[in-house]
Amino acid sequence: MLDPGIKPSSIVAYLDQYVIGQDAAKKTVAVAVYSHYRKLARSERDHTRITKSNVLLIGSSGTGKTLLCDTLSRILDVPFVTAEATSLAQTRYVNEEIEAILQRLLDKANGDVAKAQHGIVYIDEIDKLKADGQPRGTSGESVQHALLKIMEGAPVKLGGQYIDTTNVLFICGGAFVGLSEIMAQTHGYGFVSISSDDNQKILDRLNSRVKPTDLFTFGLIPEFTGRLPIVAHFEDLTRKMLVRIMIEPKDSIYNQFRDIFATESVGLTIEPKVFDQIAEVAFEYKTGARSLRGIFEELITPILYLIPDDPSIQKVTITSLFADPTLERHTKS
Ligand SMILES: Nc1ncnc2c1ncn2[C@@H]1O[C@H](COP(=O)(O)OP(=O)(O)O)[C@@H](O)[C@H]1O
Ligand SMILES: [Mg+2]
Repeated sequence: MLDPGIKPSSIVAYLDQYVIGQDAAKKTVAVAVYSHYRKLARSERDHTRITKSNVLLIGSSGTGKTLLCDTLSRILDVPFVTAEATSLAQTRYVNEEIEAILQRLLDKANGDVAKAQHGIVYIDEIDKLKADGQPRGTSGESVQHALLKIMEGAPVKLGGQYIDTTNVLFICGGAFVGLSEIMAQTHGYGFVSISSDDNQKILDRLNSRVKPTDLFTFGLIPEFTGRLPIVAHFEDLTRKMLVRIMIEPKDSIYNQFRDIFATESVGLTIEPKVFDQIAEVAFEYKTGARSLRGIFEELITPILYLIPDDPSIQKVTITSLFADPTLERHTKS
């Protein structure tokens, strides 16, 4: 199951290497995963059933929800698969589609049913299963019912064998556009008299808590929200965070391009101002960190085009998004 040496803090430390910010969400997810496997271990010893706490990730598009889950899957030694709620809603064969997800989980476990039954399933874009309007395919609401069944725990037949989803941990993610407006209307903790900053903090926290009724108003059926008791919030990315995302992660865009240049024996330096400019443009696009790579590639592509033809280029320095790069060449001697 989970490596006994893993603690919530070590999960967060690993996530920190790849996911910028989102400290609260990282902690929430780390503790949820840790407790889940603790409970499982005990239930196996005592032969009891566990009360499972699945997790809901809420945050704008491009703020790192999928990235966090992908990264998490690399540190946990459990089978982990990702599925898109939207593709479940686009098919008329929801149950076949769900079976396919569990089949992938089983494949990740190398066919070991017991191992697959302790896996994690991440379902992205869960907010697209709103109970209204889905012109083609299956209605969002019936997809929720189908998912509910496996989240609660059900034996699912795959080929000749059954896989029981009772102990599979489900993480669902979505942007939930419009949820904050719903919350603003329904949250009424403000009338409590406030005597200190601490109380204000408690109030803020209560007011920022998503209530099951808010998710219901949004369009998730009550039984479904009831199966997602843990909610982790992702903050919108600031310009500063966008800059850090380009530079700091182990596999950051900057590091990736420096590696590509290095294979051509060319040094690449991008001055800090350029990252600020890119962050500014990306911020305007309002797609979180998603647009960073595109802007970056547009900047770098013309240079990458030149380099293989000109072995004398030794170093490239970019000083502005709006100026030609400075090229340093070997001096012929
Ligand atoms: N907090 C973050 N830290 C580092 N990179 C991020 C972060 N948020 C987004 N990104 C970058 O943007 C891309 C898209 O983010 P993703 O996790 O798919 O967003 P979503 O929240 O919509 O699932 C990621 O692959 C990653 O490169
Ligand atoms: Mg996503």
